[in-house]
Amino acid sequence: MSTPILKLRNICKSFGPIDVLNDISLDIRPGEVLCLLGDNGAGKSTLIKTLSGVYTPTSGTMEMDGAPVAFTGPRDASNRGIATVHQFGGTFPLMTIGRSFFVGVEPTKGWGPFKVFDRKRANEIAVKAIRDFGITRIDDGDRLVGGLSGGERQSLAIARAVHFGAKVLILDEPTAALGVKQATHVLRIVNEAKRRGLAVVFITHQVMHAMAVGDHFAVLIRGAIAADFRKGEKTREEITDLMAGGETMADLEAQIDGYRQTHDGHPPQLANAAV
Ligand SMILES: Nc1ncnc2c1ncn2[C@@H]1O[C@H](COP(=O)(O)OP(=O)(O)O)[C@@H](O)[C@H]1O
Ligand SMILES: [Mg+2]
Repeated sequence: MSTPILKLRNICKSFGPIDVLNDISLDIRPGEVLCLLGDNGAGKSTLIKTLSGVYTPTSGTMEMDGAPVAFTGPRDASNRGIATVHQFGGTFPLMTIGRSFFVGVEPTKGWGPFKVFDRKRANEIAVKAIRDFGITRIDDGDRLVGGLSGGERQSLAIARAVHFGAKVLILDEPTAALGVKQATHVLRIVNEAKRRGLAVVFITHQVMHAMAVGDHFAVLIRGAIAADFRKGEKTREEITDLMAGGETMADLEAQIDGYRQTHDGHPPQLANAAV
């Protein structure tokens, strides 16, 4: 196993009286995908916002490359190589691919007051970086980002982060809103980022997606790590049960059967079912 690039030790995060993260310790390693699993509200987004400098932990410590680190904000974390890609890629639909690739880091030609955005060069670099990443359907940097599919936008954002030297790539539910084919495409790109030696933190509540790319898994329940294991150590059923908060699918089925027996074979009705 590689040496961790990021180490979290006993991280807690509270918002006023609300404790959202409780005693989180995790190692994040280069060339590995860490899947952060957990139901809605488990604290996944809060954890990655803490990792990416959006929140300061209430207590606990973080180390990067073996030295203590406390991010002053998202820009600080990003300057140190921590890139976060949000759902939908966080890109700008009305921008061209070439321009969106260079937002904040535009290459220029000329100098002084005559500096202008070099569209042709930007497009060449962007398209090459994207194609090198295995996204061969994008060949024109003048196309608008808004014309790309959800999966292509995610992939563009990932390729961009890698191109500009990200070391840790954080993906918050990148496949949640995608169809099967597009999700598969994003998972391939995640594997490529890992192959290039990045540490990837992949957040999802889809166990199949996690199992397709994960080397290391952590399950969050109510802000605490309920399980921390490596590839091959648990089955899909075990992971699903863990995410359901320890209530196994078998227990749930038994409950439903019990209900049917006492209600003339009728299945349970939803509390708020429309009448
Ligand atoms: N800024 C905040 N202030 C108060 N509570 C928050 C705040 N952010 C998140 N929470 C609470 O923390 C819990 C975890 O939220 P979140 O990290 O978004 O979970 P997840 O991403 O796993 O769905 C939720 O109960 C949410 O309401
Ligand atoms: Mg979330």
